[in-house]
Amino acid sequence: AGGPWEECFEAAVQLALRAGQIIRKALSEEKRVSTKTSAADLVTETDHVVEALILQELQTRFPSHRFIAEEAAAAGAKCVLTPSPTWIVDPIDGTCNFVHRFPTVAVSIGFAVNQELEFGVIYHCTEERLYTGRRGQGAFCNGQRLRVSGETDLSKALVLTEIGPRRDPATLKLFLSNMERLLHAGAHGVRVIGSSTLALCHLAAGTADAYYQFGLHCWDLAAATVIIREAGGVVMDTSGGPLDLMSCRVVAAGTREMAVLIAQALQTINYGRDDER
Ligand code: IPD
Repeated sequence: AGGPWEECFEAAVQLALRAGQIIRKALSEEKRVSTKTSAADLVTETDHVVEALILQELQTRFPSHRFIAEEAAAAGAKCVLTPSPTWIVDPIDGTCNFVHRFPTVAVSIGFAVNQELEFGVIYHCTEERLYTGRRGQGAFCNGQRLRVSGETDLSKALVLTEIGPRRDPATLKLFLSNMERLLHAGAHGVRVIGSSTLALCHLAAGTADAYYQFGLHCWDLAAATVIIREAGGVVMDTSGGPLDLMSCRVVAAGTREMAVLIAQALQTINYGRDDER
């Protein structure tokens, strides 16, 4: 343990747990729901409260650091990853689940320095599972080491994905046809659990073999990427090239073979870039 970013990592863990408490309590209460980029892209008061808590605390403790956060971005803040230490925060991942009280909701806090991800903390609020990954130091869930599955055969794979916010007919057609391609290739199943970060944690834990998505954002991906890599997995672009955190698309798997098979099967859905909005 230890390392130069120890204090930051400890702060992320404490804040994720505190945020999780607020979210757990709010889950059963009445919610005021608004929409963002589409009728299926939701935000609640709790998203704002939790994001403000996390950002205020971190800005006070680490005044020279930079921040990328979901609700700040929705309000027009730019998403740029510079070499400065940068926090990448999703206050509630799975807001739609949260609104419906479907108990798959997480807080995600990632941290990058020199444009390289240093650590990720994801807290499954209702199951009280804390996932952590630190570069070079492994990935854990509540203290237990995580290890990805070694599956290389798509016809033996359990694959996870998320729908993404757009629901126009052309996007939906591509989304469904990607799912169909994987099922044709013999995948055991394709699941949609409503939280990109928790789906990615299943991959890190070896309880699923692959994940892909178009239309996710850097705050859905940053923390989970460190956790998956430290659990021995691969996170790449849907083109088969290296991951681009800002490209709104991803393939991740326990093995490179599996990731490449998924990437090859997919048709691209173009969601633009987080750093060009
Ligand atoms: C969203 C959820 C959803 C996924 C989206 C994410 P949010 O995060 O993870 O399942 O399809 O891509 O942006 O808006 O609930 O933080």
